[in-house]
Amino acid sequence: MAKPKRKYVCQACGAVASRWQGQCDECKEWNTLVEEAGATVFQLKHDLQTGGLAVDLVGLDNEISLPDRASTGIAEFDRALGGGLVPGSATLLGGDPGIGKSTLLLQAAANLARRGLDVAYISGEEAVDQVRLRAQRLGLGDASVRLAAATSVRDILTTIGKGKPPALVVIDSIQTMHSDLIEGAPGTVSQVRASAQELIKFAKQQGSALMLVGHVTKDGNIAGPRVLEHMVDTVLSFEGERSHQYRILRANKNRFGGTDEIGVFSMESEGLIEVGNPSALFLTDRAEQVTGATVFPALEGTRPVLVEIQALTVRLSSGATPRRAVVGWDSGRLAMILAVLEARCGLSFSTCEVYLNVAGGYRITDPAADLAVAAALVSALSERPLQSDSVFFGEVALSGEIRPVAHDAIRLKEAGKLGFDKAVVPAASRSKQPIMLSGFKTLANFVDHILGRD
Ligand code: TYD
Ligand code: MG
Repeated sequence: MAKPKRKYVCQACGAVASRWQGQCDECKEWNTLVEEAGATVFQLKHDLQTGGLAVDLVGLDNEISLPDRASTGIAEFDRALGGGLVPGSATLLGGDPGIGKSTLLLQAAANLARRGLDVAYISGEEAVDQVRLRAQRLGLGDASVRLAAATSVRDILTTIGKGKPPALVVIDSIQTMHSDLIEGAPGTVSQVRASAQELIKFAKQQGSALMLVGHVTKDGNIAGPRVLEHMVDTVLSFEGERSHQYRILRANKNRFGGTDEIGVFSMESEGLIEVGNPSALFLTDRAEQVTGATVFPALEGTRPVLVEIQALTVRLSSGATPRRAVVGWDSGRLAMILAVLEARCGLSFSTCEVYLNVAGGYRITDPAADLAVAAALVSALSERPLQSDSVFFGEVALSGEIRPVAHDAIRLKEAGKLGFDKAVVPAASRSKQPIMLSGFKTLANFVDHILGRD
């Protein structure tokens, strides 16, 4: 038997290094490497080609029996899950502490219990009375959720393994769980993985839907949910500002559905309330008739995010050099758009100061924002407000042409989902969404249209 080796495991991404270092080579996080006991390595005495059991190899065309999904009773939650909970599946719900993960799962658990399903809610963070108190405050006290405060995976599996397996098992959170099969404190990568593995095995064998809560951590003291992403079927992330009441639930990975659906909620005193029509929510923050503001459907990886682009122009009376200030976008690109607007569209910004801001501290690098920026600039200069129910995207070439951009379908889908019903796009764009497209070949055509010159 070989000697157990020392190893250092990044608590953020699970990468393993042979010596301690300040920064993880994989995810570039600082101070996340922690020494963990290495697994004992057995020297193999035989090769692995004999002595095993043969497994069945089958064709792709065999009959499949799709399990019935169970609705959580929360339409936005079902939507993010791809249509409800799948029996025998494991879902990881990640998010910052305090964002509302426990609240969401308690509400879903109570809904399922009220429909007569057996639900076990295991809290490793809060005492039973704390969870009860919250349930009563949310008006869920009557639901027959089976509640326990426990952190030992063995105890939990023994408990829920008795009798008929529950339809839903909630583990809040996986970082507080402890498996006695391996060493290490709860929250370390190896403990989190081992605990999750045991729980997932139970769910797959018994047909329970398993929901694991995972706190996203920045400091690396406990393992982040990323170390579990490959083990579970579905990864949901719950996002939003704690100080802001809106929350977005996204599927980052889903073996049972798409990853382009989002669920929108509002955190109120009576718990998480679904926002069925997020347009209202995103548009109420926007004044109706403001000049110089446009909405751009940006992409964060493959995930769409709507951001507002704001432009302000101030005419100078003196001959001083006008300022150009940009927050959240590339100043070189702004200079280029201004040059195209001057040279190809007959507009003059030379006596104006120009300010451009991407709202909410967001940073855009995507060239598809060109058209939204140009529209905001033209609207600011001409003091004509643009339609507030439109989104804008398209890349502007130096020739003044508006070029098609990648992922226009995703952008339009997100815009549609958030209640926008018009889009100003490159002429070649097509949409399957119920969104009215106005396609323009060149920036000059578009400017003529805004200024009513066509
Ligand atoms: P919680 O679900 O405990 O977050 P997590 O499990 O993700 O850590 O939510 C905690 C926050 O939500 C807390 O700051 C208070 C707020 N909250 C409400 O605003 N209304 C409510 O009805 C509840 C239950 C919580
Ligand atoms: Mg919680």
